Amino acid sequence: MVDDRTGWAIAGTGNIARRFAEDLRHSKKGHVVAVASADTERGRRFAAAIGPQVAHGDLDNILARADVQAVYVAGRNELHCEHAMRSIAAGKPVLVEKPFATSAAEAERITDAARGAGILAMEAMWMRFIPAIRALRTRVEKGEIGAIRRVEAGISFINPKPLAPVIADLGVYPLSLAVNLLGTPESVSASATADGRQVAITLRYENALAILNCGFDAEGGNSATVVGTKGVLSTDAPLFAPSALTLRPTKAIHAPMTEGNLAPHPRLPWRDAARSLVRPLRVAVRPLLYRGNGLHYEADHFTDCLRAGLRESPLMPLTESVEVMRIVERVESLVSHRS
Ligand SMILES: NC(=O)c1ccc[n+]([C@@H]2O[C@H](COP(=O)([O-])OP(=O)(O)OC[C@H]3O[C@@H](n4cnc5c(N)ncnc54)[C@H](OP(=O)(O)O)[C@@H]3O)[C@@H](O)[C@H]2O)c1
Repeated sequence: MVDDRTGWAIAGTGNIARRFAEDLRHSKKGHVVAVASADTERGRRFAAAIGPQVAHGDLDNILARADVQAVYVAGRNELHCEHAMRSIAAGKPVLVEKPFATSAAEAERITDAARGAGILAMEAMWMRFIPAIRALRTRVEKGEIGAIRRVEAGISFINPKPLAPVIADLGVYPLSLAVNLLGTPESVSASATADGRQVAITLRYENALAILNCGFDAEGGNSATVVGTKGVLSTDAPLFAPSALTLRPTKAIHAPMTEGNLAPHPRLPWRDAARSLVRPLRVAVRPLLYRGNGLHYEADHFTDCLRAGLRESPLMPLTESVEVMRIVERVESLVSHRS
């Protein structure tokens, strides 16, 4: 039987590379065929742990392989642009971990190179492909919550030794959600604690606000709420991979209180208690479970794009990756001036 699964090379051997390899075991559309590492022994060990047929080598060796049909760039942030550019130059479609690059200029370079060469490139924005976030987006598109007036989202974990500023490491998740739902903001404001480990961001749109946060020194609510004129959609935590979506339709505005509709007798306490028990039943909570860490959804979408001959993903367009990097830079400049 012909194996039509995408042959993936993973460039990098760290945490996320291992999760990706683990999750591809849930995929019917892709499998790992090679691993690229700066360290031969680390690459050999990682390849062997995935399977006996998995090749390893440096990036140039791996890019030269005919069985490699897509490259997952999963190394340190500083290497994203270089590894993406080398993959594109070798004619290999490329899925690039977040943050897409270390600057908007780098993000533009990748975008221009991919478009110029007609090679599929996409940011590996894990969150966007998770079923609950896909469902959120679909419900918004169907108009179930009316026009969006506010997006609230945040992500905050204790990380004593971060490898990047919090806005680049974690802030890109809420920013990516807001940009996907609302587009390019008219203005950006931000503030941070003196140590820069808590950052609050407001994106202003003509008819909506995105109120976002990220942090490295405490665990936060780590969820998203999208407030529309007809209802509210909320995810559970963690923001990058939620497993439930809640829809609370907006209640009709209460009739004004007049002397005529004053209750004839004082209300009994059980009546209010019964009301508060019934109220949550009007809220539709939908569990949307996923297997493993859920990284195979982005990989499978990438394969779907490849099979459809697309050079860019309709779900994760490059312009949004560039826009997020522009906002990251803006936030960095705003908070560095103030601290
Ligand atoms: N961790 C997550 O949950 C997560 C989630 C989403 C996105 N990301 C993104 O994915 C990228 C990689 O993150 P990560 O968490 O996987 O980083 P990491 O574990 O620190 O690994 C980063 C790179 O360091 C090298 N490395 C691995 N083990 C090493 C060791 N023992 N000594 C020296 N170098 C070693 C590997 O590259 P070589 O083998 O090529 O040297 C590896 O790809 C980042 O851009 C991050 O933003 C991470």
